[in-house]
Amino acid sequence: MGVAGRGRPGAARALLLLLLSPPLLVAAVRGRADRPLEDVDECAQRLDDCHVDALCQNTPASYKCSCKPGYKGEGRQCDDVDECDNELNGGCVHDCLNIPGNYRCTCFHGFRLAHDGHNCLDVDECMENNGGCQHTCLNVMGSYECGCQEGFFLSDNQHTCIHRSEEGLSCMNKDHGCSHICKETPRGSIACGCRPGFELAKNQRDCILTCNHGNGGCQHLCEDTAEGPVCSCHPRYRLHADGRSCLEKEGTILEGTENNATSVADGDKRVKRRLLMETCAVNNGGCDRTCRDTSTGVHCSCPIGFTLQLDGKTCKDIDECQTRNGGCNHFCKNTVGSFDCSCRKGFKLLTDEKSCQDVDECSLERTCDHSCINHPGTFVCACNRGFTLYGFTHCGDTNECSVSNGGCQQVCVNTVGGYECQCHPGYKLHWNKKDCVEVKGFLPTSTTPSVSLHCGKSGGGDRCILRCHSGVHLSSGLQEAYSVTCGSSSSLRSRQQKSNDSDFGDVITIRTSVTFKLNEGKCSLQKVKLSPEGPRPALPERHSSVRESFQYANLTCSSGKQVPGALGRPSAPKEMFITVELERETYKKEVTVSCNLSCLVKQTEKRLRKAIRTLKKAAHREQFHLQLSGMDLNVAKKSLRASEQREETCGVGQSQEENQCGLCQPGEYSADGFAPCQLCALGTFQPDVGRTSCLPCGGGLPTKHLGATSFQDCETRVQCSPGHFYNTTTHRCIRCPLGTYQPEFGKNNCVSCPGNTTTDFDGSTNITQCKNRKCGGELGDFTGYIESPNYPGNYPANSECTWTINPPPKRRILIVVPEIFLPIEDDCGDYLVMRKTSSANSVTTYETCQTYERPIAFTSRSKKLWIQFKSNEGNSARGFQVPYVTYDEDYQELIEDIVRDGRLYASENHQEILKDKKLIKALFDVLAHPQNYFKYTAQESREMFPRSFIRLLRSKVSRFLRPYK
Ligand SMILES: *[C@@H]1O[C@H](CO)[C@@H](O)[C@H](O)[C@H]1NC(C)=O
Ligand SMILES: *[C@@H]1O[C@H](CO)[C@@H](O)[C@H](O)[C@H]1NC(C)=O
Ligand SMILES: *[C@@H]1O[C@H](CO)[C@@H](O)[C@H](O)[C@H]1NC(C)=O
Ligand SMILES: *[C@@H]1O[C@H](CO)[C@@H](O)[C@H](O)[C@H]1NC(C)=O
Repeated sequence: MGVAGRGRPGAARALLLLLLSPPLLVAAVRGRADRPLEDVDECAQRLDDCHVDALCQNTPASYKCSCKPGYKGEGRQCDDVDECDNELNGGCVHDCLNIPGNYRCTCFHGFRLAHDGHNCLDVDECMENNGGCQHTCLNVMGSYECGCQEGFFLSDNQHTCIHRSEEGLSCMNKDHGCSHICKETPRGSIACGCRPGFELAKNQRDCILTCNHGNGGCQHLCEDTAEGPVCSCHPRYRLHADGRSCLEKEGTILEGTENNATSVADGDKRVKRRLLMETCAVNNGGCDRTCRDTSTGVHCSCPIGFTLQLDGKTCKDIDECQTRNGGCNHFCKNTVGSFDCSCRKGFKLLTDEKSCQDVDECSLERTCDHSCINHPGTFVCACNRGFTLYGFTHCGDTNECSVSNGGCQQVCVNTVGGYECQCHPGYKLHWNKKDCVEVKGFLPTSTTPSVSLHCGKSGGGDRCILRCHSGVHLSSGLQEAYSVTCGSSSSLRSRQQKSNDSDFGDVITIRTSVTFKLNEGKCSLQKVKLSPEGPRPALPERHSSVRESFQYANLTCSSGKQVPGALGRPSAPKEMFITVELERETYKKEVTVSCNLSCLVKQTEKRLRKAIRTLKKAAHREQFHLQLSGMDLNVAKKSLRASEQREETCGVGQSQEENQCGLCQPGEYSADGFAPCQLCALGTFQPDVGRTSCLPCGGGLPTKHLGATSFQDCETRVQCSPGHFYNTTTHRCIRCPLGTYQPEFGKNNCVSCPGNTTTDFDGSTNITQCKNRKCGGELGDFTGYIESPNYPGNYPANSECTWTINPPPKRRILIVVPEIFLPIEDDCGDYLVMRKTSSANSVTTYETCQTYERPIAFTSRSKKLWIQFKSNEGNSARGFQVPYVTYDEDYQELIEDIVRDGRLYASENHQEILKDKKLIKALFDVLAHPQNYFKYTAQESREMFPRSFIRLLRSKVSRFLRPYK
């Protein structure tokens, strides 16, 4: 507010200056002489030496520095005015917070700032969520109290109610007489305790309020006396007759209705009046907030979060949410003098208290059994192939055989994560892996060759056919690659049989492998007619140039980009590689006088080399064929153009959606599963592709048309609704048995529940009715959790789970119930109870039979904890997942002080902490092993928790460490 500068205007002032500081004038005169005509705006050009907290004002030939409002000094030096440092406490009735250039009033917990920015008003906690009270909530000045209905008493956490009708041991008796907390002493009697902020009265039962709880019920000032808290008011207020509230004194009421400053004349009058009589000493100069005497009269200003109104006196709260949503990412809620941001479900508020961050549920342990996909605000779980999702996050093995026998013609065997069709003796599995083909002639034994290779003259060169007799396995990766294995590899067999195979030492396995590259071509397993060589066998065996048999063959074909090692030429779609691995077993008994074993091996190897050469030539001439299940297939197609035609790219063993041409479609069949196909006859249907027969509707039921694709096309006598299946013997709809469900109309089967789940009742219509009955959780000495069966899916009916937490010596149990969902309309049929032992008379720590969505933390009233969850056959709900931690009993007082303080649950943001699995884990980690505290840097913990939460903990911890201030 001081004035400084060179060459002040006005002779009187120049004179004054001359007397005071000659050098300055000299400088000023010189300045003027140098630039007599032109004024330089020192402020704009930043040539001034004003303090950062000063305003620079250009004057003719010079400039002026003056401190900004809220700062004091002569302009080149400005210091913050501590508005709080006066006996009026800045006018704040509770706390005053000085900030650079201004100040802000704050209120104790349980109070909110009034619109004038100074006074504090009681918050009615009961208005929001019933104050977190399970039953009744009573608002009191600065605080609130929960109460319970008849037949219930308030549990130690002071929010939930325990239902207890038996009049058992002392503390269980609701007439125990303790006004707050009843504790059982080792001697079998009881001792009363009080909640934080209260002191036990002389009668050892009542609790006397202190100023530490809800400001002692006082609106402004509270002083502890022997008779309890005594209230008083801030100087500008007087105490109401209730001895608690404060009223503004008459005369201090601000002239809010002062005339509208519309005319200049009015304004001038006011200025004059102010100059004459107004000073901050009288009635705060009429200012709503800060008043400052200046040479032009009183100057009112407002703290941050308020704007000065046109009348120049009143301060009005700024609705920060109106501008750019207050900077909040999601929701903005205006408060007096400030604002609060909050986030949508599935997001958490960061410690900047504005940004919302998606909670990555997938980064937590145990979120999903298999895979987890995070979405903004939510997540979904997915299961591996062969598994079905149940209870939102769990995966159970799918029993594929439960639906139409897995599509198997004969035998279906379910395995974990898959299933397998099998055939009766005398049949072998068709390549489509579902049908069975009758085995004609001999049954191959383990030593009969599984594979044979025949090559013979055909046209200008050799044609080779690799015949596969048993153990066919066809796999296909991408469209242009496949792999066929046939027989069984010796390496596999020796691994399986190991020592008890007497023949094992007598066998020598010769392996040969060749890869040939075709510069142009495409892998394509497709049916060929080997005419004009005549009907099968295509090659008369005695004219064969090559006749070899093998125990195992592995034929792979890859074309295009798939080729390994085709570096630098990644897009060479023409190239194709065929790899043939062959295994032949030579037996010692084949040894003759003229040729010993090594001679025998040499001979065989020589023959195989010749065979490979022939095969290679045949492949180049497109004369390499594969015979599977009596069907001839091309191994590869040389001409690209031809293979690009749609029907030519058809293959077997490829995924059905990708490439079905050539295969029989649903509603069709053929002897080998390939075209030409026939439509299923009337009274039969076929849902699969590539099949060799159709399924009968059964019971003599007809179908509406040829080529039916499902049982729903069968003309049943009644239409079955979901939850039922059609019995073709009785022509009735039967309820799906326990452990199965059927979501569709008109089916002839029910689907088995996945994994180890089952339904509560028969006639289920939905997978959500499949529930795991296992009581979940993990009990540890230090941390652990319990959860209702099938969590987070609905728990099953008639379940009964019991857990016992038995902490190591000298440790106590802390439990957090983030939320619990139990049906309300069930008359307490489902409940969770925690007590000392299974005896109904033992000390109860927690009991509930109702949904409670606000998190609650509490310590166990006994050393051990017996926990039981029971559900009846009625309604069901999601249940609970309850983590716990055991801590050193030396901290008992501190932990209880924290969890029994209502402020822990007061704000939405605090509640989120107790629901945040990551934060709970971090908190529990430190409670279980305090040395873990050092794993977290101060920065990390600041980023994890809201400031108010850290403040709450800090005050508790310091009171615990230094109980006598
Ligand atoms: C003050 O003047 C404005 C504009 O003329 C008018 O809208 C407002 O109602 C006036 N207030 C009072 C208290 O007369
Ligand atoms: C068949 O051979 C290919 C290429 O050598 C190889 O990648 C594949 O693993 C083999 N298959 C079996 C079942 O051994
Ligand atoms: C259909 O009903 C008959 C007669 O009650 C019964 O024997 C048969 O097992 C039932 N079929 C199925 C699939 O439940
Ligand atoms: C399902 O139950 C069986 C037998 O009770 C058990 O061996 C298996 O481990 C259980 N599977 C799961 C996923 O719990």
